[in-house]
Amino acid sequence: MMFMVAGLLLAFLVSNTLWFNVLESRRIEQGKEMARDMAYSIASTMEFIRSYPREYRHIILNQFRDMGGSRYLVSINAEYIDVDPIYESERKQTFLEDFNGAIEEKIGSRLEGLKVEFADPLELRVYNGVKLVDLPERWAQNSLIREPEPAPVLVAQVPIGEGEWLYLAGLLREPYYLSEARYLSADQVLFVLIMLAILLVVSWFMVRWLTRPLMKLASAARHLGTDLEYDLKPLQVEGSREVRETAIAFNFMQERVLRFIEDRERMFSAISHDLKTPITRLRLRSELMPESDVKRKMIVDLEELDAMVKGALDLGKSTDIHESIHAININQLVRTFKDEFKLMGTDIEIRGIARRPFFGKPLALKRAISNLINNAIFYGKDVRLDLVDTRSELKIYVVDKGPGIPEEKLEKVFDPYVRLESSRNRNTGGAGLGLSIARNIVHAHGGRLQLRNRVGSGLEAAIILPRI
Ligand SMILES: Nc1ncnc2c1ncn2[C@@H]1O[C@H](COP(=O)(O)OP(=O)(O)OP(=O)(O)O)[C@@H](O)[C@H]1O
Ligand SMILES: [Mg+2]
Repeated sequence: MMFMVAGLLLAFLVSNTLWFNVLESRRIEQGKEMARDMAYSIASTMEFIRSYPREYRHIILNQFRDMGGSRYLVSINAEYIDVDPIYESERKQTFLEDFNGAIEEKIGSRLEGLKVEFADPLELRVYNGVKLVDLPERWAQNSLIREPEPAPVLVAQVPIGEGEWLYLAGLLREPYYLSEARYLSADQVLFVLIMLAILLVVSWFMVRWLTRPLMKLASAARHLGTDLEYDLKPLQVEGSREVRETAIAFNFMQERVLRFIEDRERMFSAISHDLKTPITRLRLRSELMPESDVKRKMIVDLEELDAMVKGALDLGKSTDIHESIHAININQLVRTFKDEFKLMGTDIEIRGIARRPFFGKPLALKRAISNLINNAIFYGKDVRLDLVDTRSELKIYVVDKGPGIPEEKLEKVFDPYVRLESSRNRNTGGAGLGLSIARNIVHAHGGRLQLRNRVGSGLEAAIILPRI
């Protein structure tokens, strides 16, 4: 919308400038023409009157008035009548120069004693003491004088004999010619403002029409990404063609993703479940075997197999899509951990706080964090929890002072059933699933789980959760 407004203003300014320039040059042209026109008329009137003997002149003047020469008022006065000049502008000077030039051209020489001025018709005096507007004649009723902005009157006076001044007053045809042109008038500004207002209203509706489906799409995509428990319905197909096609594509993708997840879960638990029965059968059978080394080894293997199947079922449940999202008070959660582990004889240090609740699956998150804490306690010592809460992310660091993990194994330990040699030797009974389960859970929340060896010694496991 900002771009649109800027565009409109720019277009307006450019077109206004162009238009203004065209108008200006036309005005100047017209001014020249008008000066010439008036100069010719005045010069010929003057020559005409002068060509008559004095005693006839008043008859001619009467004639002039009667013939409806409405644009000129002609009279003869005994003396020069003072005129209050108006329009002191450069343009007026140009006009007067043009005017004088034209008279010279017409008569062939300069007119001795010619005085020309512009006057306000409402103030102009035609005879001594008599104002133009007080004249009862037709001339004074000329509509141009009555306009809101009356056209200026061009007054030319020239001595034509002893004690005789010829007085000619002519109305300018175009009233606005002499006034300084204004680049931006109030009318124009108002016009643009109205246009802008209408444009803004219309474009607001349009932008909303365009973006509302996009917002819905964004929220649907977010839910699909983090919260499968949310009632994932197909998007409504509406809006512009592109948006409609995007919605259709999204619906198709969502359906496929959901089906994939469902299939994977079902298959995973089916396989692990189905494995349990034959394993149990095998164990029973091996119990019946005569005591031997092979029997003992077989039982150990079967136990391991059993643990793995249990772990696999666990792993399948870890991303538990059947838990719904709640606002989790992370500070409280962390304190619970502290208390629980204290009971088991480990003191956990806590630093930092979460500023806001986090929206996630409480049990799953609890499980992810406790897997990391268990590892830290088990493989390290001096466990510490650091909370770092920013506008966009919530970071939970589980830090210990153990041996850490060899750099080249940092990725590997995330794989299911992977345990490092050292921990195997300790025969801790872990299945090697803790980290993969934790990572599944964190991924399901749209976050990431990172392992890093600390300078000195120890491991830092970071759960980084996006705040949406
Ligand atoms: N804080 C740590 N310090 C050193 N090594 C670690 C740490 N955390 C994990 N490891 C190594 O990574 C391996 C994988 O850890 P993971 O939690 O996935 O499995 P586990 O702890 O062996 O078994 P489970 O957690 O399933 O009982 C561990 O066996 C251990 O060797
Ligand atoms: Mg573990």
